[in-house]
Amino acid sequence: MLDMIAPSLAALPPVTSDSLLALIALAKADPRTDKIDVGVGVYRDAGGATPIPRSVKAAEKLLWERQETKAYLGGRGDVRFGELLRPFVLGRHSGDERIDQLQTPGGCGALRLGFQLIKLANPKARVLLGDPTWPNHPPMALGVGLELSNYPYYDRDNRRIRFDEMISALSAGRPGDVALLHGCCHNPTGADLSDGQWAEVTRIVVERRLLPFVDLAYQGLGRGMAEDAAGLHGLLDVCDEVIVAQSCDKNFGSYRDRVGALFVKTGGRDATATAMAHVLQMAREMWSMPPDHGGAVVRTVLENAALKADWLVEVGEMRGRINEVRATIAGADPRLAFIGEQFGMFSMLPLTKAQVVALRETHAIYMADSGRFNIVGMSDEALPRFIAAVVETLDG
Ligand code: LMR
Repeated sequence: MLDMIAPSLAALPPVTSDSLLALIALAKADPRTDKIDVGVGVYRDAGGATPIPRSVKAAEKLLWERQETKAYLGGRGDVRFGELLRPFVLGRHSGDERIDQLQTPGGCGALRLGFQLIKLANPKARVLLGDPTWPNHPPMALGVGLELSNYPYYDRDNRRIRFDEMISALSAGRPGDVALLHGCCHNPTGADLSDGQWAEVTRIVVERRLLPFVDLAYQGLGRGMAEDAAGLHGLLDVCDEVIVAQSCDKNFGSYRDRVGALFVKTGGRDATATAMAHVLQMAREMWSMPPDHGGAVVRTVLENAALKADWLVEVGEMRGRINEVRATIAGADPRLAFIGEQFGMFSMLPLTKAQVVALRETHAIYMADSGRFNIVGMSDEALPRFIAAVVETLDG
């Protein structure tokens, strides 16, 4: 009798929702008008707005005037978009024919495809990922059935990279294991590897024959466009196989348009063509073809010299504001000085979860439970209140 009962959707277990998405909803629902949302990673200017960059707006206008059809483009999306990204993402390796790419729905689409490709090529591969890392990395890798193994990355209490421990953990990796690395602007800590540390990581990756998978979601918002990809370029110098998940969502301010690309390098052009054929088939099974608008806009910016130059100015402006706000927070209290040494949109405050919750309840300040906050999540006007509340909380 029992086996007559059909499995039911009602029997599904509850889900622990993604912590960052839950935080967005929580902040949105707070009726206090002076709330500060430094949870999700969205750039806000001095006035607290997230503007569409000038170059993007101008490209959208051009696109509206010129686009004559919305007929399908195919699984790779906008091919020119990918080609025009190559000089930024790959630098001196941009002409390497062993590297190919396709457009994906945001960096997440690229991460998912990359993990799936790895699972297909090497089902036993483990993904070595930093502790801490972006909260969506583990479920994405687990979702395709890959095994995870953490390497120590950041010591929050002492505000430093646990580099020696990271190196020993990577050194224990098995050939074919995946070293998941943040290209720049480490999320959630802001603690980026130095050039020397990248060189050492690269040496271990080669020695242990690990597969580097670089998440490059914030290029240009740390030290500069080229500087932020220098670690990746060093890996490409010596590794035959490299995967890159790239996102334009932050540096083109095109968050909700979901614009990204997956780059795959293998040891030879034929092997890359085969890998890309698999990737295209996987993409076909998931989303068939990526949404066009955001990629078309990025392509329109990058193929127009004036718009491209203006976009680079705008990326520089975002970077400048991030670094200015960092300096202000760092200068406010010696316990916050470390923030001035870090890069990108995030740093992690040495707060307990209870303190983070207290900031939320008492001051309407929303940040991730880990203490990660968005450096440019608030207006200039709100900044002193944010600093005062954090210092008060640190004082206990
Ligand atoms: C973040 O970490 O806040 C962003 O990457 C947005 C997201 O999708 O989590």
